[in-house]
Parts: sequence; structure tokens; C-alpha cells
Amino acid sequence: MVLTVQNCIEIVKEDEKVICQSSRLPYYPLVVKRAKGAIVEDLDGNQYIDLLSSAAAANIGHSHPKVVAAIIEQAQEFVHYTPVYMYHEPLVKLAKELVDITPGNFRKKVVFGLSGSDANDGVIKLARAYTGRSKIITYIQSYHGATYGALSMSAISTSMRIKVGPLVPDIHHIPYPDCYRCLFGKNEENCNMECFTFLENAFKYYIPIEEVAAIVIEPIAGDAGIIVPPKRYMDRLYSLCKEHEILFVSEEVQQGFGRTGKWFGIEHFNIQPDMIVMGKSIASGLPLSAIVAREEIIESLGTPGHLFTTGGNPIACRAALATIEVIREENLIDSAKELGAYTKERFIKMKDKYPLIGDVRGLGLSIGVDLVKDRLTKVKDRNAAAKVCYRCWEKGVLVTFFSNNVLRIQPPLVISREQIDKALDIIEESIMEYIEGSIPDEVLEVAKGW
Ligand SMILES: Cc1ncc(COP(=O)(O)O)c(C=O)c1O
Repeated sequence: MVLTVQNCIEIVKEDEKVICQSSRLPYYPLVVKRAKGAIVEDLDGNQYIDLLSSAAAANIGHSHPKVVAAIIEQAQEFVHYTPVYMYHEPLVKLAKELVDITPGNFRKKVVFGLSGSDANDGVIKLARAYTGRSKIITYIQSYHGATYGALSMSAISTSMRIKVGPLVPDIHHIPYPDCYRCLFGKNEENCNMECFTFLENAFKYYIPIEEVAAIVIEPIAGDAGIIVPPKRYMDRLYSLCKEHEILFVSEEVQQGFGRTGKWFGIEHFNIQPDMIVMGKSIASGLPLSAIVAREEIIESLGTPGHLFTTGGNPIACRAALATIEVIREENLIDSAKELGAYTKERFIKMKDKYPLIGDVRGLGLSIGVDLVKDRLTKVKDRNAAAKVCYRCWEKGVLVTFFSNNVLRIQPPLVISREQIDKALDIIEESIMEYIEGSIPDEVLEVAKGW
């Protein structure tokens, strides 16, 4: 099929001349003109069903009228006055809401920022200040952001780390519990939680446990390829944290705000984390992030321990309040659960037909479809992922991949059943075309991805 994207191509060419290309992971030349709900339109008038939600930053759909109205209303009052020196109402209202919707039967407080990355930097500071310990534990293949702290917590790509060291010290990475590609070669029958033993051994041999301030875990490892940890791992991790007074931090920048069929992903595990990190969809894509934590943790930094001139911007706070209202009014948490189950089921049916699909996993509308060269060896098929995504774009569906080979299925939670069906039909057609060999190699030069 021929897609006319001349205007888009022109802008992409101009972009390459003036924009830092290290801030890009291109899949196809889509220049967004407008977006509404689950539909994105490009500069040439082509419309696409969005299965990416602006990297999980548009859970309630693009340009929701309530969010747009809140933004306009607030902009007419005042655009910003820094909460570092003065106060404003939307900030306080939003903090109250966040305290309400997060798990944890204890007194909580909030600190705001502008991105998931800076919130993760805040986590390092707070954990160290509160515990008086320096070590932070995070996971191999995790992505927490691009600022120095968040990058140091991340372990997803050496390309991100090369040339920029030294990074923030005393951050240690351990294997995420990945039951599909178990690092320890185990399966459901013979698993003895070797991944947990790895952590115990780390504490035995090289990480003094009494120096550990926090363990930061995503309730679903997002950029690692939507990996859902087993509940018994999470239970043991939480108990270990409690026993050794290590802070348990749920990193929900990608999985929060209804995405997984709960307000926050950690609720699937009945855990009350000491800190929750949020960003992306909190304000439907406006720059806002937050850490919600036990009061005593938030107050452990002296003034001025963690503040940003443009943090907690009132327009972003109003957008966040509207976002929370929409999630409640439109029952989007239930939608994520129901549509998620439906979508997963359809992918599982595809898996029965196409050996290319090695695994389908996820919670709610956070689903990963793992494409493999061979089901036995589970070798990742990066080219398949890139070609399928590109062909989907040509046919009107925005889908990307991460972890080299995992199709990222995270549509806005307002997507309709018809839109999901259409998108899934197109994905299936594209998979068939890939298998037939009718997607040319040239697309690999464009669809670079993560
Ligand atoms: C889990 C997770 N944490 C943190 C970040 C960083 O957020 P931001 O890009 O807003 O700094 C991301 C972004 O992809 C993420 O997926």
C-alpha cells in the first residue's frame, strides 16, 4: 500500500538538521498534526489508531476536552508562579488527590517535579537522606530516565552510559524476575526463585544489607519488554525490605494511572510501598511528576532539598486533576482491565497460529508481544518487530517495540472495542506479511526503535 507522507518527510528532514538526534528513537516518519482520543493525525492528513499513547503519557486519550478546558481556564488565571516561593491551590488539591488514590495506610506527602527522570533522582536523595544509607538497588534492563540519577538507576543500554561517566555511585543492578526468559534457565516446574537467591547472595557476598537505602522496582518492567513479576517474588522482596528497614519504592512512571487495571501497578501485589514514583500520564502529557511517600521520608531532606522553579506548574496540576476526574467518571480502570483481557486473549489466539509470537504478557492495557526467531531458543527477532511496526504504521496503526523485539501495546484507555479490533486485525495482517517475506529490508533503515 502507498501512504502519502510528503509533508511529514519534509519536517523530518528539517528536524535532522536542527534537533539533537540522541534524543530520538525513530520508528517511522510520523509528524503529529493533531490527536484526539485514540486517534492521531499526521501532517498529511493520515489517521492512525494509537497503541502507544505517547509512551504511556496519554492514558485518558489525547486532548481530552476536560483536560483542554482545565488548561485554558488555568492559563487565563495565571500560567505559573513558582511554588518554591509562593503557594497555589491546584498544587494542594492535586497533592490531596494523589495521597488519596495511592496505596498505603499511613500519612503521606508529595513532592513534585517535571519528569519521571527528576522524580527518580528525588527518590535517590530521599532514600539516602531518610535512611542515612547510600546504596540503591534497581534492576537490569530497567529504564528510569535520562538525568544523572535516573540514568544511573537504569541498566537498559550501554549506549546511554557510554562517554558520560562517572555516574552516581553506589547504585546496584540485579536481575528482574523474568519467567519467560529466566536468566537461571528455570521454568515453572523447577523454579526455586533463583532470582531471589541472587539478591540474597548479593547481600551475603558484596552488598552489605545494612547499607541499602532502597530497592526500586517497576511493578511491571516496562521498557524491559512488559515483564510481570511473579507475586511470590514481590512478597519476598517486600518482606525482606520490611525486615531490613530498606525502603520499597514502586516506580510507576509508565505503569501508573490506570494503565494496568488498577490506579497503580503495585496494587496487583497488595503491597504498600514506602514511595511511589509517577510521571507521564499524571497530567496527560504536560510536564509533571511526583513522588508520593510516607510523610517522614518526604520530610527527611532539609530545605532546599528538592525543588524546581517550574515544578508543580498550575496548568499541569489542573490537567492532572482533570485527568484523575476523567479516570473516575469514565471508569477507565475497569476499561483497562476489560479491554486488556480482551486484547491479550486475541494475541494469545494469534500466538496459537504464528510461531513468531513466543509470548504474550501484561496486565490491563500494558501488554507485550514477544517476537522470536525460534520458540525453543527464544532468540529475539528484532527485524520482525521493526518490520511489523513499520507495516502497521503504513496501514494506520501506531505500534512500537522495545527490548529489541517486544511489541508495545499500551493504547489510551479510552480506545473503543472497534478501534482495538481494527488495530489487532492490522497487526495480524502485518505479521502474516512479515512471515510471507513481503516487508522489504529497507524499512529497517528507518525503523530503528529502542
Ligand atoms: C518506567 C519509567 N521511568 C522513568 C521514565 C522517565 O520518564 P521521563 O521521560 O518523563 O523523564 C520512563 C520513561 O520512559 C519510564 O518508562
